[in-house]
Parts: sequence; C-alpha cells; structure tokens
Amino acid sequence: MRIIITESYEEMSTAAARIVAGQLYLKPNSVLGLATGSTPLLMYQKLVQVHEQIGLDFSEAISFNLDEYLGLEPGNPQSYHYFMHEHFFDKINIKPENIYIPNGNPDDLAKECKHYDTLIEGKGGMDLQILGIGQNAHIGFNEPDIKFEATTHKVKLDEETIEANARFFTTPKDVPRYAISMGIKTIMLAKKVILLANGKNKAEAIYKAIYGGVRPDAPASILQLHQDVIVIVDKEAAALLP
Ligand code: F6R
Repeated sequence: MRIIITESYEEMSTAAARIVAGQLYLKPNSVLGLATGSTPLLMYQKLVQVHEQIGLDFSEAISFNLDEYLGLEPGNPQSYHYFMHEHFFDKINIKPENIYIPNGNPDDLAKECKHYDTLIEGKGGMDLQILGIGQNAHIGFNEPDIKFEATTHKVKLDEETIEANARFFTTPKDVPRYAISMGIKTIMLAKKVILLANGKNKAEAIYKAIYGGVRPDAPASILQLHQDVIVIVDKEAAALLP
C-alpha cells in the first residue's frame, strides 16, 4: 500500500486525476472502475479539464460503476446513473456503449447481479479501480458485515450510510434503503486500486482501512491484501494515521 497525504482536497483530486490520465495514456482501452459521491467529484472535473485542454482520450475506455440505488430510474437526479452522466460521462468522449452501471430497477435482481459480473469478467476485470470510503469503512456499497460479499449483490444500506447520503435527497426518508453493489472479490481483482478520502469525518475509516485488522466489519480493510493500492488522503482524513 502506498499512502499519499495531501495538503488539501484539491491536491488529492489532482493526484488521483493524474493517475487516471496516466493509465489512459499508457492503455487507452483501460477498464476503469468508478465511484460516485462527493469525494471523486473534483477528480472528475480535473479529468474533464485534461480532456478539453489537452485531449485526454476516453474513446476506447470502458467504465464500470461500483453501485446504484435500488428503485431509482436512471433519469432520477439522485440516481448514480444521473450523477455520472452529469458530472463526467456527458463531458468526455467515452462511448455510451462502453459505460456500465448496475441497473437499479431490474426485473430479476439475481439475474442483474450475475449479468453485471459476467460483463466485468468479459472485459477482463478492472485495470484501475477508484474507490471512496464510507464513514463506516464501506467501499462500493459493501457495508460492514460478518463476511465479505464476493460478487455483485443486493445491499441493505446501514443507517449511517443513509444519514450520510441524505444530503443529496430532500429528506432522509427519501434515501433508498437498498442498493446493488459490486462485490469485494471483483474490487480486489482490479489490477490497481486508488482509495480516496478527504475530511475529518473519514479519519477513523481511513485508520481502520490501513491499520485495523482485515475484517468484514471494516470492508475497506481488505485492501491491505491487495498488491497495488494507492491511498490518497488529505491531511484531515489522515489525522489518525501514525
Ligand atoms: C459510491 C460509493 C461509496 C462512496 C462512499 C463515500 O459509488 O461507492 O462507497 O464512495 O459512500 O461517499 P462520499 O464520497 O460522498 O463521502
């Protein structure tokens, strides 16, 4: 694990964007695993700038998002489909057919989970996986549990996650209670992982991810077993690191 502590959110975002850009320069048809949420927002903006200003090319890139709320249509402004298009996909030249996000309204959920895993496997897995982290140390929507869920699955969101994400909804009761999330095995099979965090409310989760034991009640801790993880955190999120 390589740990980069930055002075600011801005610097964290620049460092992450540089790694994504470098990945695409070296391998234009990279398979990218992408996260939503506040953390990667500025990284996406910076990548859009690099695309606009010096032509970073996404035309061969393939992307798989980590998760989606269950019960939200793609056109719902709170859905992760909407988020990704608004903040990133509509501003770069990625091909629509190369964008994959779990379907939050499947007729058959078990089939959708299997289908998503098959699609990822069919593309050879992720070359680079971007992760945020929940205050409870979730990655994707893999919530603290008694075991690590390997593959794409339905998740009951923790109260803490619902509260944290309520800021994007009119009232906390509008936050969906369930989601579909890529599993831990799929994340661990990514060739390279970048874990991002900023702000003091992530300090405990980052400590658990890096220094706590590897345990399913702190899902991000599994990353200690991955051979190529770069943790990029601002100094507030790094506050509890020795
Ligand atoms: C989102 C995701 C989540 C978030 C995490 C942090 O696709 O997978 O694990 O990365 O909940 O969210 P923010 O960045 O909003 O604090």
